[in-house]
Amino acid sequence: MAVSVSLNVNGKSVSREVEPRTLLVEFLREELGLTGTHVGCDTSQCGACVVHVDGKSVKACTMLAAQANGTSVLTIEGLAPNPEDLHPMQAAFRDNHGLQCGFCTPGMIMSAVDLLQHNADPSEQEVREWLEGNICRCTGYHNIVKAVLDAAGRMRGQPQAAE
Ligand code: FES
Ligand code: FES
Repeated sequence: MAVSVSLNVNGKSVSREVEPRTLLVEFLREELGLTGTHVGCDTSQCGACVVHVDGKSVKACTMLAAQANGTSVLTIEGLAPNPEDLHPMQAAFRDNHGLQCGFCTPGMIMSAVDLLQHNADPSEQEVREWLEGNICRCTGYHNIVKAVLDAAGRMRGQPQAAE
C-alpha cells in the first residue's frame, strides 16, 4: 500500500506515492535525485543525512517521508540562492579546508547553518557541542569548527580572512 506525500523541497512543490516505510532520506535521494544528502549509517549516528525540515535540522534517516508530508524541506542543493553561488557556510568550509573526502560535509553544513540561525555568534565550545551529532570519518574537526566560526563572522557582516 502506498501513501501520498506532498511537500515543498528547496522551494518546489513535490508529490509522490511511496511505501509507508520510505525514509525521508530515501525519498530525497531516490525519488527526487537529491543525492547531496548522504547516508552514512541510517541509524541516527553520523549526521551525514541532516536536512532542514520547517527550518530546523533533522537527521533525514530518522524520519519517514510520510511524516514530512506538508512540511518545507531544505537540502544542501537548495542552500545557496542559486547554483552558481555558495552559501557563506559553504564558502567558509572551502576557504578553511573544512572538508577532506567531503562525505560528512552536507550534513555538517546543514547542522551548522541551523546553529547560526539561533546563535549568530557561537563560541568554539558551542560549535563543538552543536556538531556532536555529526561525525567526520576523516576526523577533520579542527578546520570544520574554524569554518563555522568564520561563517558566523561572514554572516554577521564581519568577514574574516582564512589562514
Ligand atoms: S545516515 Fe542519518 S545519521 Fe547517519
Ligand atoms: S571530510 Fe571525510 S568524512 Fe568528513
